[in-house]
Amino acid sequence: MTQRPASTRRIVLASQAAGVPVAGNFRIEETPLPALIEGHVLTRTLYCSADPGTRSRLSSGASYAAPLRIGDPIDGFAVGEVIESANPRFAVGDVVATGGGWAEHAIFAGRGYIQKIPHRRLPLSNWIGVLGVPGMTAWFGLKRVAGLKPGDRVLVTSAAGPVGATAAQIARAMGASRVVGTASGADKAAWLRNEAGLDDIVDYKTAPDLAAALKAASPEGYDVLFDNVGNEMIDTVIPLLRPGARIVISGQLADYNTPPDKVRGITNTRYFIASRLRMEGLVVFDDLKGFPAAQEELGGMIERGEVKVREHRYRGLEAVPQAFIDLFTDSAFGRRIIAIGDEPT
Ligand SMILES: NC(=O)c1ccc[n+]([C@@H]2O[C@H](COP(=O)([O-])OP(=O)(O)OC[C@H]3O[C@@H](n4cnc5c(N)ncnc54)[C@H](OP(=O)(O)O)[C@@H]3O)[C@@H](O)[C@H]2O)c1
Repeated sequence: MTQRPASTRRIVLASQAAGVPVAGNFRIEETPLPALIEGHVLTRTLYCSADPGTRSRLSSGASYAAPLRIGDPIDGFAVGEVIESANPRFAVGDVVATGGGWAEHAIFAGRGYIQKIPHRRLPLSNWIGVLGVPGMTAWFGLKRVAGLKPGDRVLVTSAAGPVGATAAQIARAMGASRVVGTASGADKAAWLRNEAGLDDIVDYKTAPDLAAALKAASPEGYDVLFDNVGNEMIDTVIPLLRPGARIVISGQLADYNTPPDKVRGITNTRYFIASRLRMEGLVVFDDLKGFPAAQEELGGMIERGEVKVREHRYRGLEAVPQAFIDLFTDSAFGRRIIAIGDEPT
């Protein structure tokens, strides 16, 4: 049985980020692990993830979620082994997905995200990736928000990321007639085409005329835009949308490092009238009750090889800030998973 330590290490905010985050925005601190009170659960972290949405909490006023203060621990998703429990729903030895954050141990205080991992048929890290928030964002964004229909022509931006790659493959598996993605670099394009089975990939960084390249990739236009990137991309795509098309606002990767007053607006709104377009955002936790059924279905798609999963791994708490910074700066791709502790046998 795993020993309960008296303290643990975690990463806290050392300074607010301006632009692309840097290592100096974070520091590691040792913190005591208090005795549990009723409802609490203590976990030993096996894996945590680096999520682009965390960026919006590292400076003031940029998100629906409150900004972190200097010295606050960085929250985020983790897979952990329960090593002590004062909660009848969880037993020592259970493996859970939580909002445990960037820490070697975490206390679930009775509220917030926690889910017992129901089986080990798939890698545990999948539960904070394709079967966790990224995958669920893809699932509910396409199914509930876009109301995806067989035959739809779908464009997914940041298609090689965990949300985008899952969305693109779900669309394909659910009968989309054409699935196009945007991504930068030849490695991502090759994976998306050969492994994930997309019809075409547009490199938004090198295309001389992005709108023309997106049109060439689906000459009849798009019924669904699943957007992870932000306003400039949406504005470029709007004129390519077919009547009745739906835009899902999943995320704003290109805008996270820009002060809110400098983010450009969407101007092509006139197309919303003639083409009866609809645009809607989502916060995936609104769909929390639907996670288990969606995870079961999506898990089956993974087991049957219909959805391919890619991870990019790091090791140790010290590596977490760099894994996060790399989201905005390097060319690797796949869910950024940081292995913190060894899996229980
Ligand atoms: N709404 C929700 O409830 C919810 C939940 C979870 C995540 N999300 C959002 O979903 C989106 C995707 O998340 P993810 O975890 O799968 O991350 P991701 O797509 O892997 O994010 C990293 C990738 O973003 C792209 N990127 C980085 N900077 C960019 C820029 N300035 N312009 C355009 N692209 C840039 C890069 O790929 P390329 O260069 O290849 O494009 C990079 O590899 C994020 O916006 C995230 O916040 C939303």
